[in-house]
Amino acid sequence: MISSFACKLAKGKAANDIIFAANAACVAAIAKYGPEKITNGTIGAIMDDAGKLVCLPTVEKVYRNLPTNELIAYAPISGLPDYLDKVEVAAFGKFKPAGYTAAVATAGGTGAIHHAIWNYTEPGDIVITSDWYWGAYKVLCRDAGRELQTYTMLNAQNTFNLSALREKVTAVLQKQDTIMVIINTPAHNPTGYSLTTEDLLGVVRMLQEVTETAGKKAVLFLDVAYIDYAGDKDEVRKFFKALDHLPETILGIVAYSMSKGFTMYGQRTGAMIGVSDNAAVIKEFAEINQFTSRATWSNINRPAMKTLATIYADPALLKATEQERDHYYKIIKTRADLFMKEAKACGLPMIPYIAGFFLSIPAKHPAAICDRLHADGIYVVPLAAGVRVALCSIPLQKISGMAAKICAAWKASETQA
Ligand SMILES: Cc1ncc(COP(=O)(O)O)c(C=O)c1O
Repeated sequence: MISSFACKLAKGKAANDIIFAANAACVAAIAKYGPEKITNGTIGAIMDDAGKLVCLPTVEKVYRNLPTNELIAYAPISGLPDYLDKVEVAAFGKFKPAGYTAAVATAGGTGAIHHAIWNYTEPGDIVITSDWYWGAYKVLCRDAGRELQTYTMLNAQNTFNLSALREKVTAVLQKQDTIMVIINTPAHNPTGYSLTTEDLLGVVRMLQEVTETAGKKAVLFLDVAYIDYAGDKDEVRKFFKALDHLPETILGIVAYSMSKGFTMYGQRTGAMIGVSDNAAVIKEFAEINQFTSRATWSNINRPAMKTLATIYADPALLKATEQERDHYYKIIKTRADLFMKEAKACGLPMIPYIAGFFLSIPAKHPAAICDRLHADGIYVVPLAAGVRVALCSIPLQKISGMAAKICAAWKASETQA
């Protein structure tokens, strides 16, 4: 009997998204026991201390006041021109890398990752990211017939493990001509870790050495989805200097997302920005990615693009938006500070947290920890190397006491066979 019509590439695909599964279990527990008894640490969206999904007020005002035409008309395939102009300002701020750049509108940061994998790696190629990573990277690679492989993100001193990345890049470049390295910084999901400017300069230097020696190419893909909640606007953007005048063998791609910075998660709007010292490479970047947009989703959400363009064209609106972001950045930071203080007091290990929506606890048996925590009404996400806690969605009063409960579950699980 014929039980499958799927082509070879599609066969066996089933998106088993652990984050959405953990959230579904949490939603069921809330329905059963009531919201006050349950802590939802699964979701990557900002909830205020009353547990309500946050929309930045200025963003909401600008979006809701757009004329009907801006809400319903098609947009150009590569994005509204004023959006493409302003999204580079939103991403880079004062630190636009020296060289040539071009932006292409994408369906969220996810769309940028999709296009980069599709257009800059060959079928069967290996794509590299760190061992702590956002699970969608793997799904995106697999869907395109590529494979995601990892290097150990932190060394014994808990700093960026450049030598592990070098080793991995060198090994993979023996088998393929281009290597794509995805780095999610600042405020990395799932750990809250950020690379320093020196770290990134080290990555660029390393990629240059390895590619020049091997006569190969590298795509350095910087996923900056959380950049607007990573600290002082100018301070956190300094690392873009590492992309100044990139060597010929390296193409930089920066993935910008409106999901977090504008609290517009469901509006599916982002951009990929190519950075190179070669004008021809950037011309090609704009052309091939526009083509893939046409072939994937055609054009994206016009009102969301217009919202960003409107805010970044008006200093008063921008100031208000930045103050609102800062307010929520501080709310998340207060939650993180309390969690870290309590984690330290009870001896719970953590990956170094600098900023962002999440923190992570390394563990041998992440699923066992999460299961045990259900008895305490706490829902967090089990990953391959540990447990992810979404600080962005947990009210401060529920953070209090959480580290001790996670620590008890962690201790119990570490001793299990
Ligand atoms: C690490 C990381 N990159 C990119 C994204 C992009 O999200 P979106 O496609 O909603 O812009 C997310 C969202 O959760 C993320 O966690």
